[in-house]
Amino acid sequence: MSPDNQIINFYETRPLTFVIFGVLGDLATRRIIPALLDLARNGNLPHRFTIIGIDQAELSKQAFQNKTEKNLTKYSDADASTIREFCSNITYLAGSITSPHLYARLKTALSVDAHALFYLACPPTLFDTAAEQIALHGLAGKTCTHRGFRRIIIEKPFGTNLARARKLNTLLHKYYHETDIYRIDHYLGKNAVQNLMYFRFSNTVFEPLWNRHYIEKVEINVEESEGIGTRGAYYDTVGASRDMLQNHLLQLLCLTAMEPPDAFAPDRIRDNKIEILKAIEFPPHSALAPFCVRGQYTTPWAYTKEPNVHPESYTETFIAVKAYIKNLRWKGVPFILKTGKALEKRCAEIIIHFKNCPIEIPGGKPHANKLILRIQPDEGIRLRFNTWNDDEYLLEQDELVSTMRNSSDSSSGPYERLLYNAIIGDSSLFIRFDETEEAWRIMEPVLELIDSEKHKNLVYYPAGSKGPDISMLLKEQADIAGSILQCL
Ligand code: BG6
Repeated sequence: MSPDNQIINFYETRPLTFVIFGVLGDLATRRIIPALLDLARNGNLPHRFTIIGIDQAELSKQAFQNKTEKNLTKYSDADASTIREFCSNITYLAGSITSPHLYARLKTALSVDAHALFYLACPPTLFDTAAEQIALHGLAGKTCTHRGFRRIIIEKPFGTNLARARKLNTLLHKYYHETDIYRIDHYLGKNAVQNLMYFRFSNTVFEPLWNRHYIEKVEINVEESEGIGTRGAYYDTVGASRDMLQNHLLQLLCLTAMEPPDAFAPDRIRDNKIEILKAIEFPPHSALAPFCVRGQYTTPWAYTKEPNVHPESYTETFIAVKAYIKNLRWKGVPFILKTGKALEKRCAEIIIHFKNCPIEIPGGKPHANKLILRIQPDEGIRLRFNTWNDDEYLLEQDELVSTMRNSSDSSSGPYERLLYNAIIGDSSLFIRFDETEEAWRIMEPVLELIDSEKHKNLVYYPAGSKGPDISMLLKEQADIAGSILQCL
């Protein structure tokens, strides 16, 4: 985040109100409110800043402030007086998101002069109702006449398939300008993810190698050690494909593979990401099996025994797919995307496997170079290369390691960055409508495969293990790759 005094001064001309729908939920409690506190204590919010929290439970303003204070002592490292002062700027409105009455009360609570952001952190089934009611009550949207800005932030999942995402986009565009819609993917706010573009485009040593001539394959892994916890009701309807693959992993793929933008402007960056998504096409679901591994964790803590999960659920808690990008830079290079819950360790990284060096050396065959871009934990970059060990008279692997400066693995870190950007009106790190639709288009055969195969081919892996074997995806499949690359 760049401190920009002009922007901070701009804030000061009007109060800023942050309205959170679903404020008692996990996301608001653990990530959004701690991120706002961090923004406040780092001097990145105006003095006249308020939060209006909205949820169903009947709570007084004081009770909500006390609850928030208690939560912040758990989820933030700020001192008690900073937390108390921050909480004094919070109010609470109890009500149902489906009730127009709630919006009438919100209108009264919101100063007409204020800049306002409406964060939809409520259940995704209510995104359309909330967005519509906010606009119909003149709180934001195309017909809103307030002088301050009015923006709407929408959490993921944005729809559950292509048709639903389109429907939601159509509704949003009826009431809002696209420039006032901020679809959030918190992976884009992670320090190491942001660094990806800068790392790629500012280093002469890597840019010329970033293509099919030098790269053998790319792995994008987001492994989690925790299970689904208390989120069974939500997770059982989405699975790893909708919860992680459609958004976080495809975004990582876009940033790894996109062409350099001609300017670092929001739409230039997003245009180039979309070009990558458009160039990905899975085979139809009937031919997809060799490209996809699905799994579900089982003993010692079986997924189907988690609260609110159907006892015969075939929802995948692990998914790995192999994708090809049909453009000149990447023709024939497999991108293997893998994500899962209840795995041995928590680790997110992108591994660039370079091609083998075609040389015969006494003392061993050179190992292929690997570049590992670690997103979490321990953000950093590692480059593996060969060196000669004269004592042993052989080639061995060595590693250059760079840990990233200013890195932060705190859970509110990405939200702090993204919320700041939404406040200053920079949408580069948010998802444009066509991006989300392209990502759902890519996912269609995967979702059809899941629905048609159900338990068939679902691999049960022990919780806490490495997960299903995906070696079939990592193997050469040039024949299959060739057959889906007929565009070139
Ligand atoms: C969320 C998913 O978007 O990302 C969760 O809904 C997942 O299921 C989380 O656990 C992972 O985020 P992070 O930042 O902890 O890697």
